[in-house]
Amino acid sequence: MDAREWLKAQAAGGWVAYDPASGRFTLPDEVAAALVHGPGGAIVDACVTMMLAMGKDFPLYEEAFRTGRGVAWQEKSPEYLDGANALTRVAVGPVQVAAFLAGLDGVAARLGEGGRVADVGCGYGSPTIALAQAYEHAQVWGFDAHDGSIARARKAAAAAGVADRVRFEVASAKDLPVPDGGYDLVTFFDVVHDLGDPVGALARARDALAEGSAVMLVEPLGADRVEDNLNPIGRMWYGASVIACTPNALAHARRADRHAARRADRPARAGRRRARRGARPAARPRAGLPRPRAAPLLGGGQPGQGAGSRRGGGRPGPRARRSRHPRLLPAGPARRPLAAGHRPRPPAAGGGDAHPWPAPPATASCSPRRGCCAPPP
Ligand SMILES: C[S@@+](CC[C@H](N)C(=O)[O-])C[C@H]1O[C@@H](n2cnc3c(N)ncnc32)[C@H](O)[C@@H]1O
Repeated sequence: MDAREWLKAQAAGGWVAYDPASGRFTLPDEVAAALVHGPGGAIVDACVTMMLAMGKDFPLYEEAFRTGRGVAWQEKSPEYLDGANALTRVAVGPVQVAAFLAGLDGVAARLGEGGRVADVGCGYGSPTIALAQAYEHAQVWGFDAHDGSIARARKAAAAAGVADRVRFEVASAKDLPVPDGGYDLVTFFDVVHDLGDPVGALARARDALAEGSAVMLVEPLGADRVEDNLNPIGRMWYGASVIACTPNALAHARRADRHAARRADRPARAGRRRARRGARPAARPRAGLPRPRAAPLLGGGQPGQGAGSRRGGGRPGPRARRSRHPRLLPAGPARRPLAAGHRPRPPAAGGGDAHPWPAPPATASCSPRRGCCAPPP
């Protein structure tokens, strides 16, 4: 390999400067800062990994453009997800997270005393883990629609030594599970622009908040008007948006539409089933099969025990009993802000997860009967 020929290529690309008088190539300080020093080099590495993965996924995007079906996050090649995570790991560490929260009235103090945080669209969990590292008394959940990312996040939490206070579950942003008493902070790191229904997700987040708490969005700094984004940064954001963000939003929106259509058709389908059954002789009960028993719902963080999962019914396992995390309400009707005078129930001895989950709240208000508040003194 000829370094001189390579340098000419870099000079033509504008990365190195060329002096015709001396025939020398130099690396300008500002380029060195981005490529070589500090986190800049790692950011460039992460971006290049993502760009290469986009090239690899080109046939997928071509089809998505032709059909309009979108490309969900989990369909992208693993290299893309690795690159995206590497970018966050460099850009959003515990120090940056604490600096972001300093701008939110009183939230950092609540987390310092052991508040609760939900990180929505947590990916591989890098910002979620950074939150736990910045606030070691806080209870932190990460939720993501992609089960593969959640599996990676659980491993990352174990490797970072925070698995006892960070829990990861598969959940879509619109079905964010909520613990008794709500969250002190709900975060979206680089996620809202990826969502099929950002308004629905933010409404759910607002309803999941305890009184006086906050939702924090961290988003790429783009301008609202197209003409203000016609610059090198805008070129990058729009490129990523075309290939990565908008296709995910489209895929989720289309899936939600399909679910809504199926829900709307449910009475008609039930009618058709009844009609078919009426036309057939009733099935004879099979002897010897036990009746299915309702298993209590547990808020365990094990694979397959995500929000709403019914696996592992009966007595909670040792891990569930040890957990410091309170139980989550399964995704159901969104909670409204808690009624004034709400008194959070004291945690159960041995950890909240030892309790079966209650039914999703049927009403918006806070009710001791529902088990949400402590009984009056
Ligand atoms: C750009 S990544 C950001 C990941 C992480 N917050 C970070 O900063 O590293 C966007 C994430 O949003 C998740 N996501 C996309 N749509 C979602 C939805 N409807 N509900 C929950 N998560 C979603 C994707 O699976 C992906 O992990």
